[in-house]
Amino acid sequence: MLFSLAILLFISPTVTALTDLQANCTGPDRVYNGTSCYVMVKIMRRHTLAKLSCNHYLGYSGHLYHIRNAAIQAATSLLISTYALSTDWIWTGFEPINSSAALNDKNNWAHYFRNGTFVSPTYRPWQSGQPAANNRVYYRPSDNGISAQSEGTGLYCICEYEEALKLPVTDLEKKCVNLTSSSVLTSFVNDVCYVLQPAVTKIYNDAKVACNALNGYDGHLAHVRTMEELWIVETLRSAANVAIVRLGIGQTNTSSTDPYTGWYLTTPTNPPELTTFLPWATSYPTASMRTIGVTSGYPKSFATLGFNAAYPFICQYESITTTTTTTTTTTTTAGEDCTVSSVWTDWSACSQSCDKGIRSRVLLPNSSGNCNSTTTPTPSYQYESCTNGVQCKSSSTKVTTLKSECMGKTGSHFAYSSCYFLANISGTQADASDYCMTQGGQLASLFGEDLVSQLGSLFLQFSSVQAWIGLKVTGGKLKWMVDNVPHALFKNISTPPTGSECYALVSDRSSLNAIENPRLSPMACSASLQQVICMKSDHIYSSYSIQGGKKVIEAESPESVTTEIDSGGCGARCSEIIGCVGFNFNPSDGSCIPTKVSPAMPSVIDGVTTYTVEIESSWNFYERI
Ligand SMILES: *[C@@H]1O[C@H](CO)[C@@H](O)[C@H](O)[C@H]1NC(C)=O
Ligand SMILES: *[C@@H]1O[C@H](CO)[C@@H](O)[C@H](O)[C@H]1NC(C)=O
Ligand SMILES: *[C@@H]1O[C@H](CO)[C@@H](O)[C@H](O)[C@H]1NC(C)=O
Ligand SMILES: *[C@@H]1O[C@H](CO)[C@@H](O)[C@H](O)[C@H]1NC(C)=O
Ligand SMILES: *[C@@H]1O[C@H](CO)[C@@H](O)[C@H](O)[C@H]1NC(C)=O
Ligand SMILES: *[C@@H]1O[C@H](CO)[C@@H](O)[C@H](O)[C@H]1NC(C)=O
Ligand SMILES: *[C@@H]1O[C@H](CO)[C@@H](O)[C@H](O)[C@H]1NC(C)=O
Ligand SMILES: *[C@@H]1O[C@H](CO)[C@@H](O)[C@H](O)[C@H]1NC(C)=O
Ligand SMILES: *[C@@H]1O[C@H](CO)[C@@H](O)[C@H](O)[C@H]1NC(C)=O
Ligand SMILES: *[C@@H]1O[C@H](CO)[C@@H](O)[C@H](O)[C@H]1NC(C)=O
Repeated sequence: MLFSLAILLFISPTVTALTDLQANCTGPDRVYNGTSCYVMVKIMRRHTLAKLSCNHYLGYSGHLYHIRNAAIQAATSLLISTYALSTDWIWTGFEPINSSAALNDKNNWAHYFRNGTFVSPTYRPWQSGQPAANNRVYYRPSDNGISAQSEGTGLYCICEYEEALKLPVTDLEKKCVNLTSSSVLTSFVNDVCYVLQPAVTKIYNDAKVACNALNGYDGHLAHVRTMEELWIVETLRSAANVAIVRLGIGQTNTSSTDPYTGWYLTTPTNPPELTTFLPWATSYPTASMRTIGVTSGYPKSFATLGFNAAYPFICQYESITTTTTTTTTTTTTAGEDCTVSSVWTDWSACSQSCDKGIRSRVLLPNSSGNCNSTTTPTPSYQYESCTNGVQCKSSSTKVTTLKSECMGKTGSHFAYSSCYFLANISGTQADASDYCMTQGGQLASLFGEDLVSQLGSLFLQFSSVQAWIGLKVTGGKLKWMVDNVPHALFKNISTPPTGSECYALVSDRSSLNAIENPRLSPMACSASLQQVICMKSDHIYSSYSIQGGKKVIEAESPESVTTEIDSGGCGARCSEIIGCVGFNFNPSDGSCIPTKVSPAMPSVIDGVTTYTVEIESSWNFYERI
């Protein structure tokens, strides 16, 4: 007993002398040699995909293996021959130093790390006649040498994990690697997690706010400021096998006609930052195309893209550093300093005094020193939903079936006893109208200015919305379709161009221009839009209280008296009038006057009397509650 304990004590120091990497580098697919663990992967993949796959050991910046000397060559050659075949071709980490220069120059090849930097080796065991003019390198034990091969070939590979590159494994690295799947490519490099979903395409404004896959990290479209960063995103683009991927770079001056200057690194939240690393691809840039993507042709990779073309995009996530509202870019122009900083203004007041509204803020450039217009960014704008938590007086507190259904859904808003809801469709205004009918509703007509900002607030749940509404030019006049009433809510509205008689309501969460949110946009009625706002109104009879002996008289545009059979009929008529919040009913003769006001609202608004109450024993007022 004592004897075996002594053996254990004697053995344990040698066990603990193993490094973590050595301790874990066991199994028929891996070998430890020198100070690295080499892991062979028997999956045939193109070189860029193989490169992204080296994540066996987190915290070691795994990369395709470097054949640095004859010993490593011998150890890995044995691994390949025993774990697979000596005739197998294995991708290595050799890449051209300058891919525009001669590829058959033996010295134009180096060992690349996963961050795009490389070490120029002294040991390059080229096969005779190699390198051929291909852009990547494989090793084959039966040749005992390396040869060039084109990137797109599917081969096995060996990943290398070096003791010298060991770093603590961060939460971000774990999450980044966890995101990886057959439809999500990732690369964790220099404490940044890059993510590309090849099958997901978005227009610029949507892509810009779509980098939300990792909670708690600062996500934005990828920034490319150096050749190494370009190498990283090009790896992802090539691995995804897509022609173009979007980056977070935009030309903020939307009147600029010079496509070579005025490019800024953008994020959804921080001030844009001037960038001058612009490796244009052949035949780029194009004027008036104000965003940038990476296309083939590395190292000449940048292509200009229009805002509204959908492409896959690369997101990058970083640990959040202390958030400051200002950043400063310093550029030197003709030997003199120009400092440009950008500052967000405070949020504006909420557009609504009750219920939901919109507020905005502006990113203002502040330059000092000797600056010229090409170095000064234009302002950019951001919008968000706001509320002061006060229910609007005209809204009923009674919960009806329609109201409870409506309030539980995203993309829906209940106001004026109606449920306004956004739907994804694809079609003309007539198609949109048909769709609303099938949902038991109709195309939305808006009957109050407060409703415009309430819907605007709803729309800001989405990065951008372009939806058909029930507004149309009829007989030369712009009218709400529901009851042919002339529109009165939007200010800056001029006669729409001929051929654009139907209207969409549009909104954007962020913009390079000052824009009204939401705003009307005239369209051809036959245009195809992807969204519609419908409305569905509650029957007034579903919620009311009776105030006997009272008649509420609307000051402006009162409804005319009609004769109804009973109060239910009067309620039904009120239901058909959007914004009807109550009705006067006279049981003795069946007279009915629907109204858009009720004693629950202030009787004087902005100094204008909205209603009066008359005490009349023959009338009852039915108020929506
Ligand atoms: C290696 O194994 C040890 C236990 O022996 C473990 O604590 C460590 O996390 C492992 N390291 C890696 C990189 O897998
Ligand atoms: C690496 O492997 C080679 C070939 O198997 C061997 O000769 C050499 O001793 C190994 N080196 C180390 C440091 O393990
Ligand atoms: C790469 O090679 C091309 C062609 O020889 C040359 O024009 C260019 O300057 C080289 N680039 C670098 C960074 O050396
Ligand atoms: C790139 O990675 C290598 C190995 O991890 C490291 O030595 C080098 O400093 C890195 N380069 C940059 C620019 O981070
Ligand atoms: C990674 O995924 C595994 C399995 O899905 C999960 O158990 C683990 O918590 C995840 N790790 C992180 C850091 O998200
Ligand atoms: C934007 O570009 C236009 C056209 O080149 C130019 O006239 C204007 O001064 C620029 N604005 C700013 C703020 O740079
Ligand atoms: C503009 O920049 C100057 C100098 O950089 C600074 O003193 C000033 O406070 C800034 N103005 C704003 C509004 O941030
Ligand atoms: C403005 O800046 C650009 C880019 O730095 C430079 O090419 C141009 O000469 C400058 N113009 C003036 C008037 O300083
Ligand atoms: C409409 O499509 C967008 C984007 O695909 C999605 O986020 C939204 O939830 C959809 N809305 C509805 C009502 O299905
Ligand atoms: C309406 O137009 C005027 C002048 O064109 C402009 O100053 C104002 O900002 C516009 N209002 C809105 C809400 O867009």
